[in-house]
Parts: sequence; C-alpha cells; structure tokens
Amino acid sequence: MSKRIVLVTRRVPEAVTARLERDYEARLNREDRLLDGQEVLARAAGADALIPCPTDKLTAQFIDQLPASIRVIATFSVGYEHIDLAAAKRRGIVVTNTPEVLTDATADCTMLLLLGAARRAHEGERMIREATWTAWAPTGLLGVHVTGKRLGIYGMGRIGKAVARRARGFDMTIHYSDPVRLSPEIEAGAIYHADPNDMLPHCDFLTIHSPSTPETYHFLNKERIARLPDGAIVVNAARGTIVDDGALIAALKSGKLAAAGLDVFEGEPNLNPGYRPLQNTFLLPHLGSATVETRNAMGFKCLDNLDAFFAKREPPDRVA
Ligand code: 8YV
Repeated sequence: MSKRIVLVTRRVPEAVTARLERDYEARLNREDRLLDGQEVLARAAGADALIPCPTDKLTAQFIDQLPASIRVIATFSVGYEHIDLAAAKRRGIVVTNTPEVLTDATADCTMLLLLGAARRAHEGERMIREATWTAWAPTGLLGVHVTGKRLGIYGMGRIGKAVARRARGFDMTIHYSDPVRLSPEIEAGAIYHADPNDMLPHCDFLTIHSPSTPETYHFLNKERIARLPDGAIVVNAARGTIVDDGALIAALKSGKLAAAGLDVFEGEPNLNPGYRPLQNTFLLPHLGSATVETRNAMGFKCLDNLDAFFAKREPPDRVA
C-alpha cells in the first residue's frame, strides 16, 4: 500500500523528519521558508494530512479551500487558536494538538521570565555585553525579591500547575483563578479565586496561562492592571492576545508595574514597538517550548496522532 502523504508547513527537528520520512510520503519545507496560504494549499494537493504550526492561519476560508483528500490536521503546538475548529468539523477534518510534552519547558521558561524581569537580567546582561559595567555598587541594578512573594496564576491548566510546583520551590504563596477549581489534593494550599478580579490585588507576581479565546482577549487591560499591587510584575508565556499592550506599556512606563517578562506578543513577531525601549522588561521570542527534547516530543506527538488516525484508532490528542 502506498504511504500516506503528509504536508509539513515548517522545518521540524531531524528526529521527527526521520520518522516522518520512514512512515509517510513527507512533503517537507527544509528551507523553513514561511509559506503563505496559497502555497500551503498548492502543496496540499492530494495530501492526506497536514502538520501546521501557529504561524499558519487556518481560517474557515483556508480550510474550505483544502483539498478533499486532507482528513486530519495535526498542529505542531498545544495552542490551536490559529485553527478554525468549526470549519474543520464542517469538513469532517480531525484536528489534534501536542499537550503535556511542552508543559515543563514552558513552565521553566515562565520562571526564567519571572526571575529575568524581577532581577533586571536584561539590563545586567547588556551592561556586560556593552562593557558599561564600571564597578560593583551597593545600590546597583537592585531588583525585586522573588522568594516568599505571592504569585497569581491566571489559568490553572497543565502549564499553570507546573508553574505552581516550581514557584513553591521559591516559597511563593500561590493564588489562582480558573473556570474550574482544583481538588484539594492538587490545589495543595493554593488559594482559589473564582473571579480573577478578586485574585489581582493579591499578586506580587501575575503569570498568564490561559488559552487565547474570545473570552480571554485583552484580559489584562487598564482596569485589571489597576487592581494589581503597585510594583507588581507581570509574566506572559501563553499568548499575546490576552494582554492589552497599550495598557501594559503605559503601566510599565508609569511605574505602576515594576517590570514584565514576556515570551509572547499580539501580532508576533511584529510586536508592539513600545516594548522595545522599556528597560524594565525581559523579552523573549516565543521560546516557551524551545528545547530539543520538547520539540522532538511535539513532533512525535503529531505523528502518534496521525498513526492512530490512519490506523482507524481515536487520536490521543484530538481537539476536533
Ligand atoms: C510553540 C506554543 O512553540 O505549543 C504552543 O502552543 O505556543 C509553543 O509550543 C509555538 O506555538 C510556536 O509558534
């Protein structure tokens, strides 16, 4: 029997490519050039499956133009807001994602953002690289203490819980808000706030781990920032759309907020330029899951889902 044809829109790690080529007729993007919708549609002709990334916008209009041969979309991400699930369902196309395998890497990156923002890592790093560090000073680059402080987690899913575990290592008091309250065992003393507005005044640090949905769009706006304690620090390793950039930039400039650690941005990579000059920010280019082990595991999860689908088994990570 001829191999199933799988179109992969971005260059994936070698180990994933090897398994892809072993088990499928893989249409690859070795030069990793960003393909526009028309190019993806052209390359999808006669293919059975698509492995896109969040850099691909799978709108209803795009999905309606996919060849009839495409029966499954396995996104190389846990987030799937870039895919119009309703349109996929209408076309009877199955959609899967890559949960679990990136939880630790993203939680680790969250702690990096939190510590980097609190301890002014960007400024310190720059002093070294630009050779402007003239001498140690008792009052040099004083940051915000982390250990023992209060951390608010907006969105207590897999990654939110993993961040809580790490923050307990810093003796932080955990507050969280999520539509679903955890069991007492998993809560492990974390303080639950059904209404996120009630949680904000208790946050020396606020970290965002909700999905990007119409309900969470610009959750962190001017009014909610005003509910945070003066000098609080905001961290976002989830999605840029959850933050109102204008409000956050204004609060960082005014000193209402001491700092922010951001890995994701609305419209990335064309982030709001207002962030660039702000010294009280620690900014990363969406590196949350960027470890060799994690990206390999994400790719293997895409293939596990395709293997199951083509073996007429229910894919383990089906979202539509
Ligand atoms: C990806 C992520 O690296 O999986 C996700 O949803 O945000 C990251 O793991 C990112 O999607 C790439 O754009």
